[in-house]
Amino acid sequence: MIEIDKAKCQNCNLCFQTCPYGIINPGPHVKEAANAFCIECGQCYAVCPGNAVTVCGCPDEEQPGRPADIAAEAMLDLLQNRRSTRLFQPLPVADEHMEFLIRAASVAPSATNLRQVKAYVVRNTSLIGDIRIATTNYYASLQRMFTLPGASLLARIQGISRARMERVLPAMLAITNPPEGKDPLFYNARTLVVFTVPKSAGEETVGDAWIAAQNMVIAAETIPVGSCYNGFLSYAAHEYPYLKKLMGVSEDEKVVTSLLLGYPGGRYLRRPHREMMPTVWK
Ligand SMILES: Cc1cc2nc3c(=O)[nH]c(=O)nc-3n(C[C@H](O)[C@H](O)[C@H](O)COP(=O)(O)O)c2cc1C
Repeated sequence: MIEIDKAKCQNCNLCFQTCPYGIINPGPHVKEAANAFCIECGQCYAVCPGNAVTVCGCPDEEQPGRPADIAAEAMLDLLQNRRSTRLFQPLPVADEHMEFLIRAASVAPSATNLRQVKAYVVRNTSLIGDIRIATTNYYASLQRMFTLPGASLLARIQGISRARMERVLPAMLAITNPPEGKDPLFYNARTLVVFTVPKSAGEETVGDAWIAAQNMVIAAETIPVGSCYNGFLSYAAHEYPYLKKLMGVSEDEKVVTSLLLGYPGGRYLRRPHREMMPTVWK
């Protein structure tokens, strides 16, 4: 719901131009009938030079909306030098760093501004141990299934392509038969973050969880925290109710993705080559 303070309004109509739902008419005037459909994205508030717009549900405190002071080259450098960290110090991520990362994830774009993504931060070492055991057990049973006749057909039915199977299998074998002193599942990370959305959520909201996680990954590059997505945990948590329960994820939520976080236990000195993605120019 939007309100415009006419005394402050400079009639620039930027609020009209920026509203994605056509709730504001030129003038500007709020269309009362449409106001109920406001998604509280806050664009009209953010763009108003006179601070004349109030969006219900948003606290009435003016926040600076300045552009980030990051050079393009520095941004590209940060993105290019980001690595999935698989070397972690045996330390959980400290509160101050974790709060920064949650804030970074919380400001990610959200389809229709629904904001239904929830993050579970697990730093309890013994719980991480239990999650590791449950996840490993899950893959051990999956592995047994894969050795049964008709397994590749089953995988295809589940939407797992042959190419993906071939890439996933060696890692799965490492997880279920870890070499002495190695943790091929969590790389000894002492912080896990699991992103969930309501079970009923559609594709767009599932996408929100990915975007929030990626915000966290990028933000982690600016503090001494390394990150690595963990598809094994996310997939298992999606399929294995016991694991969800262990992490305290409720029945009516689904796990979308998860991250390992921690203080890097080594540095990546070179940047592996990455091809430019296929691009169609029109
Ligand atoms: C959705 C997703 C799931 C992933 N799952 C895992 C995982 O379970 N274990 C792991 O070691 N790396 C995982 N990764 C990291 C990828 O292997 C990594 O991004 C890729 O090898 C490229 O390396 P880079 O991130 O350092 O550029 C995952 C990445 C993504 C995007």
